[in-house]
Amino acid sequence: MLITFEGLDGSGKTTQAVRLRDWLSAQGHRVLLTREPGGTAIGDAIRAILADPAHVAMHARTELLLFCAARAQLVQERLKPHLAEGGIVISDRFADSTLAYQGYGRGLPLDFLRTLLDFATEGLTPTLTFYLDVPPEAGLQRRRASGTLERMDQEHLDFYRRVREGYLQLAAQSARWVVLDAQLPIEAIAERVRHHVAAHLPSLASHNST
Ligand code: TMP
Repeated sequence: MLITFEGLDGSGKTTQAVRLRDWLSAQGHRVLLTREPGGTAIGDAIRAILADPAHVAMHARTELLLFCAARAQLVQERLKPHLAEGGIVISDRFADSTLAYQGYGRGLPLDFLRTLLDFATEGLTPTLTFYLDVPPEAGLQRRRASGTLERMDQEHLDFYRRVREGYLQLAAQSARWVVLDAQLPIEAIAERVRHHVAAHLPSLASHNST
């Protein structure tokens, strides 16, 4: 089972991914929590290139290929082996981030992106995807307040509006998506996440989702 968290920067998805990991681990499941880009030594090196605020000249195609390269390594080195052993993987971002940011945000062709993503992931698709919806203004504010501005944070609000619109369109296209209001209290979101995950895991269905 592959569970992914998606959302704009500052949507709180990392907090929710960690909470879900802790809850599933407490139920005795073998859980691997990863984040994108990164999650492997090669992926972390690529992440540093992508995040560097000095790299403002990075072309959209370069950016796309770097995200996909990091993801291909993550899938082969960590995700596939863990899933093959029957474990659960939680990923803080996955291929949908590329469709939302590089597709809807940067305007690269979606059909080509889907083909490339299929190649990079060897067709690995999430079972369940939580999209934490936050207005771009609020997300950016949270991000600025955290004091960790990276290269992509220098984008204009219009970029993030397109990304959000893209996420909402993606979510409307497939039943694996669950859209949650990121401005709800953390615990309320966590409870909803647990509820949906429990419904997908027969062994958890009998547990109280709180
Ligand atoms: P993070 O802040 O969730 O760690 O993500 C890093 C940044 O990279 C964030 O601005 C979203 C962006 N991103 C893409 O543009 N495309 C991708 O495929 C991924 C995984 C992230």
